[in-house]
Amino acid sequence: MTDTHQTTWHHLSSDWINWADRLAPAAGKINRYMIETADLPALSAARNGVRLDVLDLASGVGEPAFSFARALSGERDVSANTPGIVGHVTASDIVPEMCEGLAARAEEEGISNLTVIPADMEKLPLPDGSFDVVSCRFGVMFCNGPDLALREAHRVLRPGGRAVFMVWAPLVDNPLFAAMDAVLGNILGIGFDKAGFDKAGLDPFCFGNIDQSMDRMESAGFTNITATTHNPAGRIPETAPFWKPQMDMLFGNILRNTSDMKMGAINAAMFETLSPYIEDGHFQVPICFHVLSGTRS
Ligand SMILES: C[S@@+](CC[C@H](N)C(=O)[O-])C[C@H]1O[C@@H](n2cnc3c(N)ncnc32)[C@H](O)[C@@H]1O
Repeated sequence: MTDTHQTTWHHLSSDWINWADRLAPAAGKINRYMIETADLPALSAARNGVRLDVLDLASGVGEPAFSFARALSGERDVSANTPGIVGHVTASDIVPEMCEGLAARAEEEGISNLTVIPADMEKLPLPDGSFDVVSCRFGVMFCNGPDLALREAHRVLRPGGRAVFMVWAPLVDNPLFAAMDAVLGNILGIGFDKAGFDKAGLDPFCFGNIDQSMDRMESAGFTNITATTHNPAGRIPETAPFWKPQMDMLFGNILRNTSDMKMGAINAAMFETLSPYIEDGHFQVPICFHVLSGTRS
């Protein structure tokens, strides 16, 4: 990560902290796809019930690290009639302010089986073969060298361990982001395109193509590679500017300095662009992402 990338996320950290608690229920719903893919019961059985170690990369202010920590609290899952699984989560992020926000939230939530370390996922300060699971939600695409990050994830896994990455499907399959891209492009001249997203050369959708993403996993050394696609839609009253959290968390550093008049125009254009998704007085806009996984042999 160059200074420019780090500075951007540093400036966005207050937006992430601001929205985190309100977004937690929705986050928990999609995190379950990652937890199911990790197959904690199978990993626990393979380790004879010894404590599982999970490393979450680019954790931001806590997702999906908190969900993994809760799944590893040792509480019996009554619905699945399975014994409780015990484990510990090491959450990490390259931005110290994200790590601080995460630690504060973990304390407030009473999550005790979690520690947090600042770490660049392209160069992890961790020994080989030290984790049963490596997870990363919407983080790997924000690295300068995503393939280096995949190799690092593979390196720190124990043999038999599993990495799980949640990545965005293409922009065209994500109407909320497509609307944001078009509207912010028209009004402020910014967007997700490589020249536009903070002019940092990032492509948040660079793992959108499943076949190519699975090839990248294979090149990083993973085996038993799987990919699933999900497109859940929320149901939000049409009076709510539901795009605001995502817009703030990706472009808040710029929006903070945008006039009220322009913000009014942005919100009006977002409403109009997304109005085809209003049904029964509610926005029902799907988001689309892939869950990629692979094991270390
Ligand atoms: C879109 S956010 C995702 C945060 C969290 N995983 C979530 O889903 O809510 C991307 C995160 O990646 C972090 N990040 C970017 N490059 C990184 C790197 N090279 N190593 C570790 N973290 C990085 C940013 O600081 C930011 O918190």
